[in-house]
Amino acid sequence: MKIGVLGAGSMGAGIAQVAATSKHQVVLFDANQEAIDKAFTSLNKIFNRLVEKEKYTRQEADEILARIQPISKLQGFSDCDLVIEAIIENLEIKKSVFKQLDELCKSDCILATNTSSLSVSAIAGACSKPHRVIGIHFFNPAPLMPLVEIIPAIQTAEQTVSASKDLIDSWGKRTVIAKDTPGFIVNRVARPFYGEALRIYEEGIADFATIDWALKELGGFRMGPFTLMDFIGNDVNYAVTESVFEAFYYDPRYKPSFTQKRHAEAGWLGRKTKRGYYDYADGAELPEPNTDKALGEEIVWRVLVMLINEAADALFLNIANRDDIDTAMTKGVNYPKGLLKWADEIGIAKCVNKLDELHDTYREDRYRCSLQLRRMVMKGQTFYS
Ligand SMILES: NC(=O)c1ccc[n+]([C@@H]2O[C@H](COP(=O)([O-])OP(=O)(O)OC[C@H]3O[C@@H](n4cnc5c(N)ncnc54)[C@H](O)[C@@H]3O)[C@@H](O)[C@H]2O)c1
Repeated sequence: MKIGVLGAGSMGAGIAQVAATSKHQVVLFDANQEAIDKAFTSLNKIFNRLVEKEKYTRQEADEILARIQPISKLQGFSDCDLVIEAIIENLEIKKSVFKQLDELCKSDCILATNTSSLSVSAIAGACSKPHRVIGIHFFNPAPLMPLVEIIPAIQTAEQTVSASKDLIDSWGKRTVIAKDTPGFIVNRVARPFYGEALRIYEEGIADFATIDWALKELGGFRMGPFTLMDFIGNDVNYAVTESVFEAFYYDPRYKPSFTQKRHAEAGWLGRKTKRGYYDYADGAELPEPNTDKALGEEIVWRVLVMLINEAADALFLNIANRDDIDTAMTKGVNYPKGLLKWADEIGIAKCVNKLDELHDTYREDRYRCSLQLRRMVMKGQTFYS
């Protein structure tokens, strides 16, 4: 199969690498020649390092690199079997590009978008053959992250879904199927990890370092939320939160935080600007957390129960099935356990009681318990048995 990759930025270059490593011929296009040059420089560096580490022989690395060819016109995609688009996150631009791809690609070529937040159905709606349009959402960096969300638009044919899933599975990725709704699985279910941590900080319950310490050391998450937001960039993470909030018709559960907005506005974006929630200037020291265990456990419990509620609600609304929701969070964002499995271990009734306690205390819709959890308690059910 010949694969086209449209957009040679960080995601496009990574996807091209994954496809070429899986022995496909790949053609790579970008509107900006500099982006193509940068992608090839970076791919060469990556493969030099992989050869040094003896992951590939020089010959194997050269063969993979030779399979990726730059093209200077969209027409170069005309004999591709799959084109994956990874250009700027803008619906109007994506629709216009898909309209062109729809006209010039073979009639059985699958057209995929790597969008993180836009409606796949809206993109498919720009095409005359929308049944072959689908979301194939890689995580960053694409060659390293195992998870890929497959998102059928409401117009997508079953054949397009199974062919896309089989192909991406054959690349050694772990695919999950998600409904075409804002944030798909990961970017929806993970929102409270950031949002509730920011809320706990804003209420003055604990500082950034203490919240990070609690979730990492007591909760078992790979990174605390503030450290993670500093990695992702407060501009990027805030933009995703804001777009998910709008897309959910301003559901208070997804409300963005002024603390993060101010950090983004101030240019305190995180590691990339050497200042975010923490100071990363040379010689700067990270603040010490308050390691009070009771406080730490309360922080973990509040964030975790909000994550469990979000995962349960995603199941309730048929965004994905149980296994895919748990796999998405462990393989896409390295959570220590699937959230639904975690809920079983804690006890569903205990989760419902905590959510009701938060709801009664705050009287905010943000803390409403998913009907999924409440019904399970009434019926004495668990997620896994
Ligand atoms: N960065 C991430 O963490 C991440 C993760 C998953 C999905 N995504 C999604 O992947 C897509 C690309 O993200 P990225 O981080 O690689 O962006 P990027 O800015 O690194 O790269 C985008 C590239 O697209 C090119 N481009 C823009 N408009 C174009 C057009 N009309 N035709 C051809 N090329 C065009 C740009 O020149 C640029 O090289 C977005 O939809 C984004 O939401 C990003």
